[in-house]
Amino acid sequence: MSRVAIVTGGTRGIGEAISLALRDAGMTVAANYAGNEAKAKEFSDRTGIKAYRWDVGDHQACLDGCAQVASDLGPVDVLVNNAGITRDGVLQKMSFDDWNEVIRVNLGGCFNMAKAVFPGMRERGWGRIVNIGSINGQAGQYGQVNYAAAKSGIHGFTKALAQEGAKFGVTVNALAPGYIDTDMVAAVPPQVLEKIVAKIPVGRLGHAEEIARGVAFLCAEDGGFITGSTLSLNGGQHMY
Ligand code: CAA
Repeated sequence: MSRVAIVTGGTRGIGEAISLALRDAGMTVAANYAGNEAKAKEFSDRTGIKAYRWDVGDHQACLDGCAQVASDLGPVDVLVNNAGITRDGVLQKMSFDDWNEVIRVNLGGCFNMAKAVFPGMRERGWGRIVNIGSINGQAGQYGQVNYAAAKSGIHGFTKALAQEGAKFGVTVNALAPGYIDTDMVAAVPPQVLEKIVAKIPVGRLGHAEEIARGVAFLCAEDGGFITGSTLSLNGGQHMY
């Protein structure tokens, strides 16, 4: 029987690569997306993976969306909390809305989605949750107090929920990507990005597929002893 996986933000960027990697690992994947209808349709037409629209920052929408996926595809065994946004700016210029929106979506989304699927995983005695953190949650980043706080929060959330899931066969891990060649990183001003890339020991941005590979590893059937960990995939930019 094929495992059912939900990937939030699963139709674009790193999320798209994760959806494909989990499908290639034999799972039935539901790719959640927030707003880019045209891209989601193109993704579904091309891959055959069903796309579901809801805002991960909206608690009730997550409960309803996950119930719909379960009714269409079966009980959810795997959750990848990948959806995330940036609203970069130095603290001096950052509005309260820019702070709140990033916390609501990036960190609140993890809580909302886990609330929807964790009870079922616990009851059935098997589950895999992977939360996408960030090098910038581990190390901080100039101009990102909101994003760094949310991503750092994800790392704490992961370690706490891992303890709750452990005796029920539910593993909870974080994966912390470095700078990956997606639309999100392409939005960083070129002269700033150039300086960042110069500090990456492997000398280049990462590829979404390189992150997806790590997610598939953490979600594997034989991954039951890996929980509460953080897999850092950043080309050597941050080692600790
Ligand atoms: N450390 C110290 N000083 C810095 C700095 C840094 N890292 N970056 C910029 N500064 C300084 C500049 O030199 C400049 O100083 P002067 O005024 O003395 O010349 C000052 O700060 C202002 O810099 P900017 O002109 O860049 O300021 P801005 O207000 O126009 O833009 C910013 C600020 C929006 C934060 C811009 O610097 C930026 O976009 N930075 C990149 C942030 C980033 O890395 N975001 C990652 C997005 S991708 C992602 O988040 C995915 C992931 O998980 C990795």
